[in-house]
Amino acid sequence: MNKVLVWDLPVRISHWLMAGGFALAWVTGESESLRLVHVFAGGTVVAAAAFRLVWGVIGSRHARFASFVRGPRQTLGYLKSLLRLAPPHSTGHNPVDGWIIMLLLSLALSSGASGWLAYQEIGGEWLGQAHEFCTNLLLAVAGVHVLSILLHNENLVRAMLTGRKLGQPHEAIGRQHRLAAALLLVWAALGAWGLAR
Ligand code: HEM
Ligand code: HEM
Repeated sequence: MNKVLVWDLPVRISHWLMAGGFALAWVTGESESLRLVHVFAGGTVVAAAAFRLVWGVIGSRHARFASFVRGPRQTLGYLKSLLRLAPPHSTGHNPVDGWIIMLLLSLALSSGASGWLAYQEIGGEWLGQAHEFCTNLLLAVAGVHVLSILLHNENLVRAMLTGRKLGQPHEAIGRQHRLAAALLLVWAALGAWGLAR
C-alpha cells in the first residue's frame, strides 16, 4: 500500500473548522463579554457540520456516508476485531469511527440549534440548560473521538491535514474539489455571521 489522496479539501477544511470552532466556543462559552466571539465560533461549527451533511451525500468517494456508515453486524464485527487487536485496514473511516462521526455531527448541530435559540431568548431558561447539556455531551464524544484516533497505528491526524492515507492506488480520489472548498469557506463565514445577528 502507498499513500494516496483520500480526503478532499472540503472534508479537511470542514473538519478543522469544526475542531477549531469547537475549542474557541468552549473556552468563550461562559463569558458575557466574549458572547459575540462565542456565537461566531459556535456558528462556524454549525455551518461546517451542515455543509458536511450535504457533502456526505454529494461529495467524493470516501466523504460519502454510504461509504462508511455501516449496519450493526459490520460495526460489531469491526469492534470484535479491535478487541482482538487485529482490526482490518480501512482506507476511509472504519465503521466504529463512522458512528462516532455521525454522533459528532448530530451533537454539533443540536448544540448550535439550542445555543441559537438561547441567544435569541426564545423558549426560556431550559434552552440554556439544553445547550449546556448538548455541549458537554459533544465534549465527551469528542474526547472518545480523539482517543480512538490516537489508538490507530497510522498517523490519522496528518492524513486529515494532508488528505493522504495508506491505500491501494485504485482507492484514491481524483480531485481536491477546490471550488466546493471555496464555497464552504464562504458558507461558513455567512452562516456564522447570520447566526450572530
Ligand atoms: C483536536 C481535536 C481533534 C483531532 C485531533 C481530530 C482528528 C480527526 C481525525 C484524524 C479524523 C479522521 C478519522 C479517520 O481517519 O477515520 C477526524 C474525523 C472527524 N472528526 Fe475530528 N478531531 C478533533 C476534534 C473534532 C471535533 C471537536 C469534532 C466535532 C465538533 C470533530 C469531528 C470530526 C468529524 C465530523 C470527522 C469526520 C471527517 C469527515 O469525514 O468529514 N473532530 N478527526
Ligand atoms: C458547537 C458549538 C458550541 C459550543 C461548544 C458551545 C458551548 C457553550 C458553553 C460551554 C456555554 C456555557 C454554558 C454554561 O455553563 O452556562 C455556552 C453558553 C451559551 N452559548 Fe454556546 N456553544 C456553541 C454554539 C453556540 C451557538 C451557535 C450559539 C448562538 C448562536 C451559542 C450561544 C450561547 C449562549 C446564548 C450561551 C449562554 C446560555 C445561558 O447562559 O443561558 N452557542 N455555550
